[in-house]
Amino acid sequence: MKIALVGATGLVGGVMRKVLEERGYGDCTFIPAASSRSVGKEVQFAGKSYKVVSVEDAIAQRPDIAIFSAGSGPSLQYAPLFAEQGTVVVDNSSAWRSDPDKPLVVPEINGDVITAHDKIIANPNCSTIQMVMALAPLHKRYRIKRIVVSTYQSITGTGMKAVQQLRDERAGVPADKVYPYQIDMNLFPHGGTFEENGYTTEEMKLLNETRKILRDPEIAVTSTVVRVPVTGGHSEAVNVEFYEEFDLEEVRRLLAEMPGVVLQDDPAHNVYPMPLFAEGKDEVFVGRVRRDESQPKTLNLWVVADNLRKGAATNAVQIAQWVEARFL
Ligand code: A2P
Repeated sequence: MKIALVGATGLVGGVMRKVLEERGYGDCTFIPAASSRSVGKEVQFAGKSYKVVSVEDAIAQRPDIAIFSAGSGPSLQYAPLFAEQGTVVVDNSSAWRSDPDKPLVVPEINGDVITAHDKIIANPNCSTIQMVMALAPLHKRYRIKRIVVSTYQSITGTGMKAVQQLRDERAGVPADKVYPYQIDMNLFPHGGTFEENGYTTEEMKLLNETRKILRDPEIAVTSTVVRVPVTGGHSEAVNVEFYEEFDLEEVRRLLAEMPGVVLQDDPAHNVYPMPLFAEGKDEVFVGRVRRDESQPKTLNLWVVADNLRKGAATNAVQIAQWVEARFL
């Protein structure tokens, strides 16, 4: 296997290196690529040092798989060039997610949509991945009518510069701001950019990507995305209304049986998911499972996952594993 990693020097790129190694790709021919600023720098992978190359050089080496985590611009520019020569691209940016011809995949839910002809496969947004992981088994059983979700998103979702901003603010040294405001001791209801309808791009992803992954264009989703001064993962308060009546014990059983989901729900002993414990883990943690007593057929959940892991690197590598097992 020859694997290129575009964005190898970034925050997600670093976790991707780790996850690739953990999942048995330590012996692959590894091609780390990044922007021209990083060409020639060294990155570590599976106990060895590798020199970062340009994306053009990575294309010339004709890898079997190219995993992208370098933002939408490079994905739009370079993914088709890899795809043209037969490389399968797994793209972590939002560049291809809403393209009806490109699969948008969470392997545990809809890996089966990938065909041998797909050369660009989109990795969903971190907030969407963890939410649909919890909701997919419930959708199958009771069919979702409407979701109301508020997110509490880790700054790691914005990359290395955001982590540096928080560190600098904490240390009391002048910080380069990637956010419009101080993030330490603060939070803001602003993820992505504002659209004409008043929602942000991150909020609209929760609607459009959920419909595509759960294969139900009628699901209604309304969301508020909040950035919080946390590094371990994203948390979500999810209120979900179903068409069918549910049984709370069955809901708990369906969640516990979902591969990749861990039910962490024992309020009497203060057991509920938190980013502090989700950090570095591949699973999606679900707790605070309870009926919404204000409305029939409606459930509340609290969903936490490490956005750099299942929300990004782990899911992307799982897609690569899926493709390798079936099509390479
Ligand atoms: P570089 O380190 O050379 O800037 P993060 O999300 O942590 O900021 O990381 C973004 C990643 O995407 C980095 O590896 C960065 O490389 C890479 N990147 C940014 N722009 C480009 C580009 N035009 N071509 C290739 N890689 C890019």
